[in-house]
Amino acid sequence: MILIDGKKLANDIKSEIAEEVKALVETTGNTPHLAAVLVGDNPASQSYIRNKVRSCEKVGFNSTLIERPDTITQSELLEVIEKLNEDEDIDGFIVQLPLPKHIDEVAVTLAIDPKKDVDGFHPTNFGRMAQGLSAYLPATPFGILKILERYKIEVEGKECVVLGRSNIVGSPISILLSRKATPGNATVSLCHSRTKDLKFHTQNADILIVALGKTEFVTADMVKEGAVVIDVGINRVDDETAKRGYRLRGDVKFDEVAPKCSYITPVPGGVGPMTVTALLMNTLKACRNEIYK
Ligand code: GUN
Repeated sequence: MILIDGKKLANDIKSEIAEEVKALVETTGNTPHLAAVLVGDNPASQSYIRNKVRSCEKVGFNSTLIERPDTITQSELLEVIEKLNEDEDIDGFIVQLPLPKHIDEVAVTLAIDPKKDVDGFHPTNFGRMAQGLSAYLPATPFGILKILERYKIEVEGKECVVLGRSNIVGSPISILLSRKATPGNATVSLCHSRTKDLKFHTQNADILIVALGKTEFVTADMVKEGAVVIDVGINRVDDETAKRGYRLRGDVKFDEVAPKCSYITPVPGGVGPMTVTALLMNTLKACRNEIYK
């Protein structure tokens, strides 16, 4: 069993990005600049955003954090987005999700200029991705592709099963792995809450990608011997003995599933660090005008 070290891979790629930033600054004078909008005080969102800002500093990007209280109105938030769309100094920006209930996330996503949508959430980027055109890929699926690529995990012709059909992970990764591309060319099944015999599908998976948000949902009996298991779940489980009062657990029951796997991602330290790195890769592409020429 090979334990996928997402943290090390993320750091390796960050070092490569830092080198590219140096060269970019020397040749063009441009420093990539990512902005992030954080609404309210959701502790998980605050932690993700801190991580993103810290990662920008590490690779030599400029970053701007825009914090607003959860009392912000939708039109006020749309004004913030409009300003970022027009700000020539900002290459790309994200609005951290989830947003407070009174704000329409779809309206917010649609308001972001697709050219600056480094999260790849705008339907223009999603549609371009689905058709194999150049697009900002959503960060988590992009991070998973990099894991498969860098660990030289064969994808072509494999049975790939994705659990969860969210717009930001399950749905896009199922499209990306079935595309005529590398990594890609897999036979993909997308399973969800209405799937009839889930175990029938998961037991057949050469590559199992789990993005349900359900703590330790996947057990050993659901997994084929020698499978590649990619766990996207980041669940906080109360634990008084832990320093922060909680521990992170994945969607996979790691201890019993890992011995059956050829490769598996741990939580934490698997997909999570790669998601942040993918966002940096997209921001570098934005600064270089690589996606929309
Ligand atoms: N919430 C959970 N994951 C993400 C992400 O990748 N981007 C944003 N903006 N919000 C998120």
